[in-house]
Amino acid sequence: MSPMSLKEEIQKRRTFAIIAHPDAGKTTLTEKLLLFGGAIQTAGAVKSNKIDTGTKSDWMAIEKQRGISVATSVMGFEYKDIKINLLDTPGHQDFAEDTYRTLTAVDSVIMVIDCVKGVEIQTEKLMEVCRMRNTPVICFINKLDREGRDPYELIEEVEQKLNIQCRPLSWPIGMGKSFKGVYNLFDHKLNLFTPSQRKLSDVRQSFEDVQDPELDKLIGQSYADQLREDVELIEGVYPDFDPTEYLEGKVAPVFFGSAVNNFGINEMLDTFIKIAPAPKSRRTEDREVKPDEKKFSGFVFKIHANMDPNHRNRIAFLRICSGTFERNKPYNHVRGPKPLRFSNVTQFMAQDKEMIDEAFPGDIVGLYDTGNLKIGDTLTDGEDMQFVGIPSFSPEIFREVVNKDAMKTKQLEKGLKQLMEEGVAQMFTFDMGSRKVVGTVGQLQFEVIQFRLKNEYNATVEFHPMNLYKACWITSKDKKQLEEFVRSKNRHIAHDKDGKLVFMAESKAWLQMVMDNYPEIEFHFTSDI
Ligand code: G4P
Repeated sequence: MSPMSLKEEIQKRRTFAIIAHPDAGKTTLTEKLLLFGGAIQTAGAVKSNKIDTGTKSDWMAIEKQRGISVATSVMGFEYKDIKINLLDTPGHQDFAEDTYRTLTAVDSVIMVIDCVKGVEIQTEKLMEVCRMRNTPVICFINKLDREGRDPYELIEEVEQKLNIQCRPLSWPIGMGKSFKGVYNLFDHKLNLFTPSQRKLSDVRQSFEDVQDPELDKLIGQSYADQLREDVELIEGVYPDFDPTEYLEGKVAPVFFGSAVNNFGINEMLDTFIKIAPAPKSRRTEDREVKPDEKKFSGFVFKIHANMDPNHRNRIAFLRICSGTFERNKPYNHVRGPKPLRFSNVTQFMAQDKEMIDEAFPGDIVGLYDTGNLKIGDTLTDGEDMQFVGIPSFSPEIFREVVNKDAMKTKQLEKGLKQLMEEGVAQMFTFDMGSRKVVGTVGQLQFEVIQFRLKNEYNATVEFHPMNLYKACWITSKDKKQLEEFVRSKNRHIAHDKDGKLVFMAESKAWLQMVMDNYPEIEFHFTSDI
């Protein structure tokens, strides 16, 4: 057993994700955080999980993406006695589902915004998910070494587009070529900018009072005067920073910096470990589970199959919600028929993974699994309960699966089943003719599936376009009506991978008409029913 109490272990942990529109600087910031945490020694160690869809070598890119996102999908490191678990989120919108699910496993997020581009579309979408869950957000406005937009304007845009109040905790002095540094409004320290990709700590100088004439000597009179004006305005306009409002997801503290130059990161990280929440309670269908409950519980939010092509294994990523997780102890697999025990439990460090015997709330562990676990599954030390809030999505693009190698039908079936369990996409089988249709939220997912089926299962498929608008899960309190509906619409009825009934609608107008004509049937747009 750990010499620390469960409560101490919990207090020591911070589990978060960085979210950003592609290119805002997520990878760069991640890398710099790992450098500060001493988890890596050199820059360039963290690779971007971006996919360049413009290149011809798409297959390579996808393969690379898989390898990389696996190696770096959870990064643990210690900073000033705090154990930080940083979860990677794919930036590409076609993989947004993966990101949304990852956000259910964190307690807070850092959002990176490019000061030239401001709030971009992917940030807006990700922020919506955070808002649904009241996830606390810290905002890092990046690339201050470039000629960006006016900081007031940027903050206003964040407030409007992301629908969250901001509270600047640092303020930039100049920008682009004339960027001088940032003034920390929280601890009244001035951090002067020196472009460098290597230095690790910022040298900060205290200025309790911005009227101090020393300031003019350091940054010149006009910048000093501008800063005095800004500080007065900000202190006048914004109420004092209240950590509780941040924890409730109502106010986002804002920092400015330049990730590539290691600038302003130290500052943000120091504040982060002070204010970011330790592992929080999580809801199950029946009750709230507190992290310091003695008995272990956790849920699976991500599955990765065939990480090592030579061993057909899968890794399930488990977020620990309460108690102490122990290796080799049998746990209740709430959805499954029998208890499961895991002898091979890994914890992910910056670039490595290591075997562990126990883990605590806030930790993410990798469980080697032979096909028992699914995304959303709950594991507990006894109690029958189910964690809620893992989103599932209504697919937007549909393609028919066409088997191009009849000799490999079995492999294809197996591959499709496993990939769907990983949450790569959703599959529907039409009742008539057993045609299989894959539904995704992004085009790229088809390429990933096709490539992985070939590579991992030796099955060859093509995807043929289908004229489908939506897959609607159907239920009704009236069994007879449902049967009647299924009979009369049998050409459009399919089953999903769990055997649930689905109505495949060809167009919006037609779906509306059917919904009007069958008021007793309930149409659901996600499978969470
Ligand atoms: P992402 O993961 O959010 O997609 O972004 P990433 O960190 O890969 O950064 C995107 C680009 O922005 C990179 O340039 C990176 O070097 C640059 N960048 C990150 N932080 C800063 C900053 O503070 N200032 C400036 N000026 N640039 C920054 P790239 O040209 O795409 O790649 P690279 O060849 O420089 O790595």
